[in-house]
Amino acid sequence: MCAVKAAKWDWMQAELDRLQEEHLVRQLVATKLQVGGWLERDGRRMLNLASNDYLGLASESGIRIEPSDVQYPCGAGASRLVAGNDPIYTQLEQEFAAFKGTECCLLFSSGYMANLGIIPALVGRHDYVFSDRLNHASIVDGIQLSRAEHVRYRHRDLNQLEHQLKKAPANSRKLIVTDTIFSMDGTIAPLQDLVTLKDRYGAMLMVDEAHSGGVYGSEGQGIVHAMGLQDQVEVQMGTFSKAYGAVGAYVAGDAVLIQYLINRARTLIYNTALPPILIYAIRENWLRSQREAWRRQALQSRAQQFRSVLQAAGFDMGDSESQIVPLMIGDNVQAIVYSRALQAEGIAAVAIRPPTVPQGSARIRFTIMATHQEHELNWAAQRMIAIGQQMRLI
Ligand SMILES: Cc1ncc(COP(=O)(O)O)c(C=O)c1O
Repeated sequence: MCAVKAAKWDWMQAELDRLQEEHLVRQLVATKLQVGGWLERDGRRMLNLASNDYLGLASESGIRIEPSDVQYPCGAGASRLVAGNDPIYTQLEQEFAAFKGTECCLLFSSGYMANLGIIPALVGRHDYVFSDRLNHASIVDGIQLSRAEHVRYRHRDLNQLEHQLKKAPANSRKLIVTDTIFSMDGTIAPLQDLVTLKDRYGAMLMVDEAHSGGVYGSEGQGIVHAMGLQDQVEVQMGTFSKAYGAVGAYVAGDAVLIQYLINRARTLIYNTALPPILIYAIRENWLRSQREAWRRQALQSRAQQFRSVLQAAGFDMGDSESQIVPLMIGDNVQAIVYSRALQAEGIAAVAIRPPTVPQGSARIRFTIMATHQEHELNWAAQRMIAIGQQMRLI
């Protein structure tokens, strides 16, 4: 019996063995966020330089309902078009659209679901999607699902993008899609130039504000809003899973776009709505993030300080300009050895390897939080420098 079972899974085990040999195997590790920028992993307390909880809200906020006699269901019961459309959805959508400066907004159950639903609704066979090579996997998967022509341009290379736009048939439907802050590099998309190009070639522009929502803009409206481009970017997608410390995603834009997506985005139509209790929690975190501007300010100054200490020590931090600070290593094994050495010191930071990043560009992805104290980051930077010197990385 056992032998039959084993034989059945041979191909899978062989694939896992191959990943092991290439130092690409991944494991789930029990991790508990702690208030203030720390976490507990395998029973050890570590400085959390690994999460997307940029404002520190995920670790600080449980779901406490005010007034306490009000209750929200923890199951929606159906997709929104069937019977799952609790009024709290529409309330948050209307408030969030006003916040983003767009006509309407539509919630999705996650960022992944949003990209998987929006892109195939906008483009299909015979259409063209122009996508930055470093865009998030959920964008890549959305494009593949759409069956549109997938044209990838080098990271932030506007000359190549323009060349590709020129080559596409003039009367074809075109979509340019980009992360606003690139999740593994911390770089910022050239949004103003992308707007110019999409206008010149009659394309739609879709942005993914997963890592800039809550972080940029006076109240955290995101980078499109901070640059005054909210009327010029057709499709503004973002998530509640990073700086907002919750779960879920949105797309903000014109009323006709939202009405169209309600009718065409399959991950909205065929997916059970998020539980109303979570919409309540998302809203609470979002309101809190607006009120507590100190979090955004602290995040920016801590990230800048951390990056400059490591750069001065000779590390290659790529072109990071944000709270995502990669330390470029290149080799998979060295990246793992370095991240393990950091963990042994009490610093949680993850080695990011292919296929998440291109071959030969393994790195440690550090993410800064508003709640990190200056002395904690200085301590971590000093340990990083000492280990980097021992490993001859610098
Ligand atoms: C740029 C980007 N878009 C989308 C997602 C997916 O969002 P979610 O985790 O809410 O599914 C991520 C998450 O890592 C991301 O980095």
